[in-house]
Amino acid sequence: MENPDNAGLFIPIDFLASIVERHEGGRLSRADIWMMAALVSSEVAEDRIELGFPFQWVGRQNCEDLFDGDCGVDFNGDDARCGSTRGPHRELCHGTSGTITVLEFFEDEFGFDAQQVVAIMGAHSVGRMRRQTLGFDGPDGWDLSNLRLDHGYYIELAGGPNGIPNFELNMVDNSDLSDDIPDRPQWEVDINGSRLVMLHTDIALVRQLEEGDNLNADGTVTCDFLDNNDNQCPDAVDTIDHVIRYSESREDFLSDYREALELMVANGYLMEGECPRGSVCELTLNM
Ligand code: HEM
Repeated sequence: MENPDNAGLFIPIDFLASIVERHEGGRLSRADIWMMAALVSSEVAEDRIELGFPFQWVGRQNCEDLFDGDCGVDFNGDDARCGSTRGPHRELCHGTSGTITVLEFFEDEFGFDAQQVVAIMGAHSVGRMRRQTLGFDGPDGWDLSNLRLDHGYYIELAGGPNGIPNFELNMVDNSDLSDDIPDRPQWEVDINGSRLVMLHTDIALVRQLEEGDNLNADGTVTCDFLDNNDNQCPDAVDTIDHVIRYSESREDFLSDYREALELMVANGYLMEGECPRGSVCELTLNM
């Protein structure tokens, strides 16, 4: 939890702690319960419950039980001890990362291709950004229905019946917050009285944002979202067509999102054999 990227995660960890405790010594590990929470929250947010997000694969080991307790190195470079709030350091993508960084991160960590990256990022159809957590300021979230898991995120990025929103890059002033939280770049547009916000990582799915090229180290960008002065950022060729496809079909998005989420919550394990609906199956550690 010393890694600032993990700010705010104590809220779901605390929330799930009593459920984890209740299952101690039983069939579900803490890791199983955390991953189940990802599926349950998707199912609840996909409020028409057309698809369902069944939790069928169990058998994840908690990090303290893996690798004979050798947890690698923590955020500060010390030997890590493993537990619900401690573990080995992982270099994560940031809200300020560009297109190639995002694609490479998901490929390296999860083996995802461009379509799977676009589908999983649709989780940002739900929720919002709180300045006190990481410095991004988006109380209205990414789309117009931020309590519902739907394809609104893609409609904002690719445009819908009302045209393509003209996102503008602004810098959030966080000088009143702790030193850990720098000023943040974010893309904003006003729609029907809501101020929608996208991170560089979201815009990077439709516009090719490249660190050291059009994306500067201070988070500023040298091109525009839309063609204001002949200076539109180039299209993100690997991902933009998937964004457009999901903007046109809620069903396509939800079924691809569910597939990507199922892989994500089984990452590090193999789902061997068939696991028919309604049954519970054991994962095998992928060494
Ligand atoms: C490149 C990868 C990603 C980056 C950089 C990123 C970044 C962020 C940031 C900065 C926030 C705002 C946090 C806050 O202010 O409280 C956020 C929120 C959120 N993210 Fe991501 N995210 C990424 C991928 C994902 C993925 C893969 C999922 C799920 C499958 C996800 C689900 C969410 C949700 C649901 C919220 C809203 C939380 C809330 O309202 O409390 N994100 N993300």
